Amino acid sequence: MSYSREKSQPIFDRALNVLEKGVSSNFRYLGDNETPIITKGKGAYVWDADGNKFIDYRLGWGPINLGHADDRVNQAVAEAIQNGTTFAATTPLEVETAELVKKMVPGMEKLRFTNTGTEATMHALRTARGYTNKEKFVKFEGQYHGAHDYVLFSTASSPISGMGARRSPIPAQVGSGIPDKIRDYIYCLPFNDFDAVEQCVKDYHNEIATIMVEPCLGNIAGIEPQEGFLAHLKKLCDEYNMVLIFDEVKTGFRLSNGGARETYGVIPHISTYAKSLGNGFPVAAFGGSEEVMNVIGGGGVSHAGTFGSNGASMAAAKAVLTILDESPVLENLAERGMRLKNGLDKILTDAGLAHQMSGHPNLQGFLITEKEVKEVRDLVHHDDELYETIMSHMYDRGVWMEDDAREPWFLCEAHTDEIIDETLDKFEESVKEAIA
Ligand SMILES: Cc1ncc(COP(=O)(O)O)c(C=O)c1O
Repeated sequence: MSYSREKSQPIFDRALNVLEKGVSSNFRYLGDNETPIITKGKGAYVWDADGNKFIDYRLGWGPINLGHADDRVNQAVAEAIQNGTTFAATTPLEVETAELVKKMVPGMEKLRFTNTGTEATMHALRTARGYTNKEKFVKFEGQYHGAHDYVLFSTASSPISGMGARRSPIPAQVGSGIPDKIRDYIYCLPFNDFDAVEQCVKDYHNEIATIMVEPCLGNIAGIEPQEGFLAHLKKLCDEYNMVLIFDEVKTGFRLSNGGARETYGVIPHISTYAKSLGNGFPVAAFGGSEEVMNVIGGGGVSHAGTFGSNGASMAAAKAVLTILDESPVLENLAERGMRLKNGLDKILTDAGLAHQMSGHPNLQGFLITEKEVKEVRDLVHHDDELYETIMSHMYDRGVWMEDDAREPWFLCEAHTDEIIDETLDKFEESVKEAIA
């Protein structure tokens, strides 16, 4: 089955005339005649311009933790914007929102707001460099930290074949336009490899300002850290005067109220937040140790932004944080996430498909391979084509998931047990159809 594009296609044709490739982010372009046009989202559903309705597990690639167009958040924003949004000054709403972040995130002492995950990781990296007076940094293969030059190496979209040998990884630059010399500032290492990171740090710690890590691979099916891996990174950072940065843009206010810090029990020096902080409104933050953050300002490290802590973003973030703080939203999500995860697992097993379930229930995935999956390089064994076929059958049945296993399934408060059961029924049919 394919959906009518009677209304969607003319809109996309117009988009192609005015927006490069018809989109405002490369990842959104799915083809001249395939790219969806979405007109509405409510709760766990989205609708396209032709009125087709989908259960949504993409959730804007993670920000939606409550549900699309959540009435409580919308109302808070609607009220706040009556008073104006951008003053180039501190506001009470900003202070209250920061106080909530500090209350909910273990080890959070000082923070700054910004607008996007990209800005948050960029500022966190600069802060770490300013604090340590060192310039290089470590990141892990398959991790995406946003769209600024320093981090666009060996990300989730990089071909594994371009990453070199596992013992001697080559930072694979993502696309053109990034000065070649930037490669000299980065070490890209396999995730979950205790020895590789220890060796690199021992060899080069005099130059390494920070280890920046997504605590679980939010851009590779949510693959989780092995027991002790994050603590190992923290220990190395403490020992060798490096700053540990958790990029919690996908995990923050999603895994638990305290994010990966709480879920995995390791407190880094700095964390970055964005997506779920605003349930769809653009807002981000970075912060952690007061000692490290103290290098910002006063002639020290530069951090600025006209729209940082604007009224609309702060109202959204304050509403989201208050809801999470006052009710067990994320715990409930984890329960329903397990219902989904167990259901998917059983259906794949019953169908005789070797697979690996991965990720935290609130940000999960699965890979079609009999081999254990610990890092991005393990994806060479995954059956991409079959995964894509199953997801296209899901789409035909009104369930929208990325057809690429690297992007996790996200859950939100509005995914009820009934919606999950409906998803599982459709998944069973889709798997049967795909392997028939
Ligand atoms: C872990 C992580 N960090 C940073 C970013 C960049 O965030 P943004 O798209 O808001 O700039 C993303 C985006 O997907 C992400 O997944």
